[in-house]
Parts: sequence; structure tokens; C-alpha cells
Amino acid sequence: MSKVTVVGAGAVGATCANVLACREVASEVVLIDIKEGLSEGKMLDMYQTSTLMDFDTKLTGSTNDYTKTANSDVVVITSGIPRKPGMTREDLIGTNAKIMKGVINSVIEHSPNAIIIVVANPMDTLTYLALKATGLPKNRIIGMGGALDSSRFKCYLAKATGANINNVDGMVIGGHGDTTMLPLLSKATVNGVPVSQFASKEVLEDAVQKTMVGGATLTKLIGTSAWYAPGAAAASMVEAILNDQKKMIPCSCFLEGEYGQSDLCIGVPAIIGKDGIEKVVEVELTAEEAEKFAASAAAVHKTNSILHEIGAL
Ligand code: 2OP
Repeated sequence: MSKVTVVGAGAVGATCANVLACREVASEVVLIDIKEGLSEGKMLDMYQTSTLMDFDTKLTGSTNDYTKTANSDVVVITSGIPRKPGMTREDLIGTNAKIMKGVINSVIEHSPNAIIIVVANPMDTLTYLALKATGLPKNRIIGMGGALDSSRFKCYLAKATGANINNVDGMVIGGHGDTTMLPLLSKATVNGVPVSQFASKEVLEDAVQKTMVGGATLTKLIGTSAWYAPGAAAASMVEAILNDQKKMIPCSCFLEGEYGQSDLCIGVPAIIGKDGIEKVVEVELTAEEAEKFAASAAAVHKTNSILHEIGAL
């Protein structure tokens, strides 16, 4: 028996709940939102796909009643405003930090042992806020960004190399921002063979650039930010936790000296299993990558400092 709560019944939260249901990752999925009837309606719609999609998961919707989320094993927090074209993720901090503070306390009050996955933006800073506001151990609060960015990186690498997408491996570390993320070209492979064997430096650099603005590109097209990939990325992390998969997933972790950084949450590869972040993996970076990672960490620290300026911490 396992229970997952998804906070926020917007497009990302509902997609995450839908992936969890369709893959039967948990026995019960609760979707909660402050908007009257929204989560109940979406969960009813989802329930009506059970026989079509062949799943048997208990689905519960709740209008801000956290008693229904009680004793969740994992809680995914998606609540917050999404960015519009031209906005950065960092522009959302004032509104979304306030929402995070309200939500995180209610979550922990009812599910004191839950592992928390933060999806709302600016993701690294809100992960840090969730950690500082609750005082929970660092293994139990994880930011989703790297899982999503790495998934986008693999898409663009597949296009660049012409390889089958499921043969492509690659990861993105650093902050979850258009200029702060760091796709690690030096580690990217097609089934273990370096991508440099399949495409020119220019073509691969173009894949890196496209990855970094992967979210912004589609935000411009749609008018609001993504949901399929962010929802699926969060769901894959829930699956890694509930099934104790020990998967290496790039995600936002609280660092205490790893990669030469401390007192921030930022994307690094980590082993994800039943205890959440079970180990931060320190991979060797090229000198250029190490310099970019340090710059990314400085940018995340700067966004974190706004939390003090607005009185969120
Ligand atoms: C994205 O990159 C919403 O941050 C999310 O699409």
C-alpha cells in the first residue's frame, strides 16, 4: 500500500497524477488544490479512464482538505503560477515562495514522514525554502529540475546524432534556469559511445543551446509553460522512491561540500530510492564544466537571497 499526494491540480500536477495512475505506481493518488472542485473533477475524469487505460488506482480529489492527504509516502508540490512567454522562472519567486510556505507546513503536518518532490519554480530556490522552512533532513526534499532538463537534453541529442532516443544517455546538472543549467556534453553517449562520434561539435553545441531554452521555446509557442514532461519527470522520481529503484537521477539536492558548494539546492546526479536522496554522486567535470557549475551555483545563491529580502526566510 502506498500513497502519493500531488499538490496543485494545474496542468503539471494533473499530468503527474495521470502518469502515476496509468503506471500504477501507487495504490492511492490524491490531487489537492485550493480551487473549489478542480481536483475532484480532474480525478473523476481520470477515474473514468481506468478501464480504457487498464489501471486500478484509488484516485482522490480534495479542495484544500489536507486530512485526505494524511500519511502520504511521497508528496509532489506543483502549486504556483507558471511562467508566461518572456518570463524567467526566477520572476515567479514572490508569488510562489508565499504559496510554498503555506503548502509545505500543511503537507508535513499530515504526512510527517513523506518525501517531498518540489516542481514549482524557481525550483532550486523553492526546494531550498521547503528544506529551511521545515527543517526536514536533506534526503527528504528533492527538486525535480534535472530530471526534466536531462530528458529534454536526450531528445535534442537524439535529433543531433540521429540515434534512437532510447539509446541516448545524457545529463544536465546545475540550476534549473535557461542560463544556469549545464548539459554535460562530455558525458553524453549513444549506448556508451561518446556522442562526438556521431555529430560535429557545432551540431552538439546547438543541441546544448536548444536544451537550455527547451522550456522557454515551448512556453513561447503555447503561451504558458510545459506540463507533459515536467509531470512525467516528477512521476518518474516518485516511482524511483516507491519502488526503491536506486536510479541515478539528476535533481536538485542540498549540498554540503559536494562539488565545492554548500548551503544551496542545485542539480547534481543522485541515487534515488526509498529514502529519497540516498547519495549525491560526484562526477568528474572538465575545467570548463566546473567553472560553469560554480557560476550556476552563484546564480542560485543570488536567487535564494531574495527569500530573505521578501521575508520568506
Ligand atoms: C519547465 O522547464 C515548468 O520549469 C518547468 O518546463
